[in-house]
Amino acid sequence: MRAARDHDVEWHHGRVFGLVYHINDEIDELLKEASNLFFSENGLNPTAFPSLRKFETEIVAMTASLLGGDEKTAGNVTSGGTESLLCAAKTARDWARKNRPDVSAPEILMPVTAHPALEKAAEYFGLRVVKTPVRADFRADGNAMRAAITPNTILMVGSAPSYPHGVVDPIRELAALAQERGLLFHTDACVGGFVLPFLKKLGYAVPDFDFSVPGVTSISADLHKYGYAAKGASVILYKDSALRRHQMFVSTDWPGGIYPSPTMAGTRPAGPIAAAWAILRYLGEEGYLEINQQVMETVQYLQAGIRAIPGLKILSDPEMSVFALASDSMDVYQLADELSLRGWHLDRQQFPACLHMTVNFVHNEVADEFLRNLAACADTVRRPTIQKTATRLIVRAANVLTRVLPEEWMSRLMSKASALLGGGGGLPSRMAPMYGLIGSLPNRGDLKELVLDLLDSMTKTSDQ
Ligand SMILES: Cc1ncc(COP(=O)(O)O)c(C=O)c1O
Repeated sequence: MRAARDHDVEWHHGRVFGLVYHINDEIDELLKEASNLFFSENGLNPTAFPSLRKFETEIVAMTASLLGGDEKTAGNVTSGGTESLLCAAKTARDWARKNRPDVSAPEILMPVTAHPALEKAAEYFGLRVVKTPVRADFRADGNAMRAAITPNTILMVGSAPSYPHGVVDPIRELAALAQERGLLFHTDACVGGFVLPFLKKLGYAVPDFDFSVPGVTSISADLHKYGYAAKGASVILYKDSALRRHQMFVSTDWPGGIYPSPTMAGTRPAGPIAAAWAILRYLGEEGYLEINQQVMETVQYLQAGIRAIPGLKILSDPEMSVFALASDSMDVYQLADELSLRGWHLDRQQFPACLHMTVNFVHNEVADEFLRNLAACADTVRRPTIQKTATRLIVRAANVLTRVLPEEWMSRLMSKASALLGGGGGLPSRMAPMYGLIGSLPNRGDLKELVLDLLDSMTKTSDQ
């Protein structure tokens, strides 16, 4: 199993900007010890495990106090940001069934930058997602959202911050709109929930986003991101327990007994809850302030270094430690390929093409090395090569072909292209041609099928 990790990205050494949040080995040991201590327990039944009940209640209380909650705030620990958002959407649906019986086809209204887990929730729970464009600074556009409210809208969403560009939506404006129209409002602070309150205390300019804003009815905040907890832990909070009631499930006539379940999962692993409690108690406010101060210093250092490389820029003016690196003159997907060859992993984003950077504590020690490598990669990308010309030609050809070929042909061609470029099991080391092709595709339906094929093939157990 250790050998199986040989080709994984080296997160321990800050080689990935997302996916893993890491402080140091000592903290990892603490998380492992807490998690191992509760390796077998099950959070499904709090009467059997009062210890877990205590941990969950205290985690929720600590998070609520951090996010402007009061004694009425209610919530749960979930397995992650996605589950917290699933809970918020399901709650909104059932709240609307009770309080908005006029609504026949409930809708979630959100900016295009809100996390896809909400779209997933809508697919799971029979809701419709209505997406609005963002402003030039990538923040939600209040006017566009106002115009998109329909008699079926039940829930509005804003992010603090959004994942793609790390900017905080104008929550005060959006939540006021929701309140005026009698809608629920969810702040997705999965990324910022354990950062923004500390930055505010440190004197950074942080817009209001939490329960102190009138109209905010629920908030998600991930412990396993900037809470630096072990994977599998997030918090979903509601303004009061009456609203939270809609999240819960209970079966009263099962032969196995009365079966209550507060969140999506049945059996709830106790390890992540225990580890999250341990890290919150261990670091405390003082620890998180210190960590966030250091992370912000790294962010400022990295951003200055990136801006000093000719052709590179940061999109908009992100409030915290998440941002997107872009360029007007160079293909950033090629830049990502070059970085991959040097062992760095940055997610490729689209509309516009940019690279994702979630900076956390572990990046303090690699900032210089990253900037040196980035400058070298940018030099390479700037130089014209045969491969780059070929990529440009493939993208142009695909653009023309999608206009003239029937949909089915195009989809077959795309499958072939993806296989050629390394799809069907492993991912190629150079993905710029694929991303260029994808970005130029007008028919996103084909793309969805293609990605589903890829997902399918990645987890196939044999060559059926
Ligand atoms: C803003 C935001 N919300 C929700 C999620 C989903 O979180 P998870 O991956 O823990 O399910 C993410 C993940 O990156 C996110 O960035």
